[in-house]
Amino acid sequence: MAENIVWHEQSLTKEERRTKSGHHSSVLWFTGLSGSGKSTVANAAARRLFDLGVNTYVLDGDNVRHGLNKDLGFSDEARKENIRRIGEVAKLFVDSGQLVFTAFISPFREDRDTVRALLEDGEFIEVFVECPIEKCEERDPKGLYKKARAGEIPEFTGITSPYEAPDKPELVLNTDQFTVDECVDQLVDYLKSNNWL
Ligand code: PPS
Repeated sequence: MAENIVWHEQSLTKEERRTKSGHHSSVLWFTGLSGSGKSTVANAAARRLFDLGVNTYVLDGDNVRHGLNKDLGFSDEARKENIRRIGEVAKLFVDSGQLVFTAFISPFREDRDTVRALLEDGEFIEVFVECPIEKCEERDPKGLYKKARAGEIPEFTGITSPYEAPDKPELVLNTDQFTVDECVDQLVDYLKSNNWL
């Protein structure tokens, strides 16, 4: 950090914002392989919660890499920096009283845990979007697995770059066994059962 930087407290607190909206603010951190359904389920859940009156936003891997993180590639170090920046942005959304979905592969446990440590208890909900790689490869919505198998994409997650599944995620969504709507039901049930909604 540069010198001569002083933290400035905001006049409106996170608690005031939560009281006004009537719901908790937190990060729903979706992690999983490319093609596992992170963005699809996150967007469907954001829509469902929006219709219930919850302020939501989705931060999505491909989209964030178009702007904020367009200087980053897919080396281990670049992925670490990608997740670090997203963690900081997600924390700002939590401060603003919103429920933010993040849909990034976020393949490294340590990087996800670093984001968890940035937030308070109950503000980081790790959602493992679980789907066997064979199924992701069969879906291959962007044709990336095909390219990776042909050696056209270096360091592709699950093929030439590792994916570390969460040890103790708050929630597991099995997208090869349940429909998108059923996954959203499971997520909403989880939030309600913890009184986050
Ligand atoms: S990471 O690992 O969290 O930094 O990745 P993320 O920011 O989520 O970006 C993943 C999306 O980028 C596309 N893509 C790749 N994914 C994995 N490995 C390599 N080498 C790669 N190159 C491009 C791909 O579309 C990912 O999107 P999803 O939605 O996960 O399929």
